[in-house]
Amino acid sequence: MTIHKAVIPAAGLGTRFLPATKSTPKEMLPVVDKPAIQYVVEEAVTAGLDDVLLITGRSKRTLADHFDAVPELEAALEAKGDTERLAKVRESTELANVHFVRQGQPRGLGHAVLQAKHHVGQEPFAVLLGDDLIDERDELLTTMLALQERVGGSVIALLEVPPEQISSYGCAAVEALEGEQEDTVRVTGLVEKPPVEEAPSNLAIIGRYVLHPAVFEVLESTAPGRGGEIQLTDALATLMDLPPEQGGGVTGVVFRGRRYDTGDRLDYLKAVVKIAVDRPDLGPDFKAWLTDYAARL
Ligand code: UTP
Repeated sequence: MTIHKAVIPAAGLGTRFLPATKSTPKEMLPVVDKPAIQYVVEEAVTAGLDDVLLITGRSKRTLADHFDAVPELEAALEAKGDTERLAKVRESTELANVHFVRQGQPRGLGHAVLQAKHHVGQEPFAVLLGDDLIDERDELLTTMLALQERVGGSVIALLEVPPEQISSYGCAAVEALEGEQEDTVRVTGLVEKPPVEEAPSNLAIIGRYVLHPAVFEVLESTAPGRGGEIQLTDALATLMDLPPEQGGGVTGVVFRGRRYDTGDRLDYLKAVVKIAVDRPDLGPDFKAWLTDYAARL
């Protein structure tokens, strides 16, 4: 595997989660006992990406602190002989090489990705949205990385959503790709948050991408789109039409596993419950309580 850099944008305003996100990035909201962003960094590392660049915004400090050592906390736990919690504190520090770059103004996801240009250079790289969780049992990123290495261009992850939800996502028109499995498709059209009657399909773009570095040049000349933001979807639509020798072509992987958008309150609650139920330490007690609780609702 030659791709080894992951870019994680975490500079959005998180308005759907106010007031919790007034002074804390939504990527730092805990999912059981770990901030969402740690699951995402762990996923990147599991897929073999050891160089992680976080794109941060106005409340950068908590994010940076989470991946930094905390000598006084570590010393206190060490003095108590609490090796279990000490390991938990050190886990996020030792995970990967984590770098930070600032997105001065939240001008959109495309603009956030553009901030990674200098760090990434001329190699393909992965983008993982810091508020989008993919269940660790459902392989997605590894499949996308292998596909990019085999077919070139850029690879995006797609999820079938009910038609009434498509206007919350980027949407892809696709066609079958000869010689590939059914879930690997050629992307022939992309539109950001279309009204349901204009959506070319019910395939939503979710927060995993493997991008060709040609995306940076395209982003530099991408005008603000929907919501006045520089949209990654618009840059991908341009890449889609470029010839392969210029880094063009977009392939989609239709994901059929478990995914949670922790930036959305309802999805966040579902993620916490599902992940807690599956945890060996908390699951049995929580499940017993939850079953009883649900029966009385
Ligand atoms: P979202 O659209 O979900 O983030 O962006 P948001 O704008 O923070 O959310 P709401 O709608 O106000 O609640 C998807 C991802 O892109 C990042 C976000 O942090 C999130 O991980 N993002 C978005 C940036 O890094 N910069 C931006 O300018 C916009």
